[in-house]
Amino acid sequence: MKTEVYVLRLGHRIGRDKRISTHVALTARAFGACGVYFDREDPKLFESVRDVCRRWGSHNGICEFFVRSCNWKNLMKSFDGLKVHLTMYGIPLREKIDEIRLADKVLVVIGAEKVPPEVYNLADMNIAIGNQPHSEVAALAVFLDRLLNSVYDLKFKDAKIRIKPSEKEKLIEYVNK
Ligand SMILES: C[S@@+](CC[C@H](N)C(=O)[O-])C[C@H]1O[C@@H](n2cnc3c(N)ncnc32)[C@H](O)[C@@H]1O
Repeated sequence: MKTEVYVLRLGHRIGRDKRISTHVALTARAFGACGVYFDREDPKLFESVRDVCRRWGSHNGICEFFVRSCNWKNLMKSFDGLKVHLTMYGIPLREKIDEIRLADKVLVVIGAEKVPPEVYNLADMNIAIGNQPHSEVAALAVFLDRLLNSVYDLKFKDAKIRIKPSEKEKLIEYVNK
């Protein structure tokens, strides 16, 4: 895994989207992204993701995972890598994945409801994970899996807790105490 991937999550509604936005951030972290930008500040959401990072680790060997807010338009204009917007209206991922893999840095943009039309133009690519409507969490997981070659069995260097895989039991190791 060498590509640095950042996620921009648009349209987060405080309170209403807490659960799905948390899932966006946890999926990004677990599937190898370096961080998630939200288009608004949500201290409770950010704290719950940071709490997971403190316990389960934030450093995946390539980068230290973060959540923060940003001005989405400025970020999309200034990002110095490939900007990929995920939308069911886009071009199928399989047609573009080889080109996307050539980038050193990728900003993957996902929405909540409808994204502002400008997003389609600011993005370098509008990519579909199938042309059926589904979820930003599913779209993000499939995209990261394909791009980063299934790195989701990551070991976080600074984790305090790790799972010991088991057929029948819930086994937890406490490390870096
Ligand atoms: C509830 S969906 C809204 C569906 C939206 N009408 C669209 O343009 O894809 C929220 C987000 O999930 C992602 N998404 C949903 N279905 C997708 C698909 N088939 N391919 C890629 N992304 C998808 C998009 O990022 C979208 O903004």
